[in-house]
Amino acid sequence: MNKGMTMNKVMVLGSSGATGRLVVSQLLKQNVEVVAILRPSSDIPIEFTSQDKLKIIKTEITDLKESILMDYLADCDGVISCLGHNLTFKGMFGHPKLLVTNSIEKVCRAIERAGTDKTFKLILMNTTGNSNRDLAENPATSQKIVISILRLLLPPHVDNEKAADYLRLEIGQNHKLIEWAAVRPDSLTDSEEVTQYDLFVSPTRNAIFDAAPTSRVNVANFMSRLICDDTLWNQWKGKMPVIYNHASE
Ligand SMILES: NC(=O)c1ccc[n+]([C@@H]2O[C@H](COP(=O)([O-])OP(=O)(O)OC[C@H]3O[C@@H](n4cnc5c(N)ncnc54)[C@H](OP(=O)(O)O)[C@@H]3O)[C@@H](O)[C@H]2O)c1
Repeated sequence: MNKGMTMNKVMVLGSSGATGRLVVSQLLKQNVEVVAILRPSSDIPIEFTSQDKLKIIKTEITDLKESILMDYLADCDGVISCLGHNLTFKGMFGHPKLLVTNSIEKVCRAIERAGTDKTFKLILMNTTGNSNRDLAENPATSQKIVISILRLLLPPHVDNEKAADYLRLEIGQNHKLIEWAAVRPDSLTDSEEVTQYDLFVSPTRNAIFDAAPTSRVNVANFMSRLICDDTLWNQWKGKMPVIYNHASE
């Protein structure tokens, strides 16, 4: 492990997803052990086979008892959540409506109950459609109007907002056991290779009418570096970094 890197084992929630599986691969490439949580109904991604630093746990995070989650977390140093609602009618409008928020809260409660003396790092995959209300972010009026409508019509948007709000307001900046970052990609795209990407404290574009591509592999690369690299972590902890592919890509 490189100097400045203290991460030995990371739990990944939503590890069967388009971004989650890339996060698992990026962590393994950095020689970090991974505990991948998948739904029992999920197919195990082919790249997960024959990885001796990877432990796969098939379980429903929504139903999982906190005490069991505590056991899974016991020797982890961090958690990355790539959970998101499936883009189906059931995924968008069915239960659990607060999949991401409830899961993040459960992880935090399990960490608190475990009462260890180490600090956990928690990364939430969020969205540029959500503002960081710790800052004076002022999205364009057109974006505000559409987001207000999405809030009424699309439960997953509310879930993304509530999950980040929980970290900002309940965990806050001075929690004894938990440090966090909520990573905000813009419009997710698929790409094979990691390319150059840019990071910002706040969105620089209209997330609805002028969204920029952010490839999932770049998001995965950033989140895995972020959780492993103490210098990078200290730069972004307690914040909601925005990631776009570099403009020339
Ligand atoms: N689309 C965009 O342009 C965009 C932009 C910015 C941010 N985002 C956010 O990025 C996040 C991840 O995006 P993605 O494209 O990687 O998502 P994805 O491929 O749909 O992956 C979602 C993950 O969540 C899991 N999941 C869904 N419903 C679940 C449930 N009820 N219980 C347990 N696990 C469940 C899925 O498991 P299964 O494989 O079992 O279904 C999968 O592992 C989402 O929160 C999304 O809001 C999206």
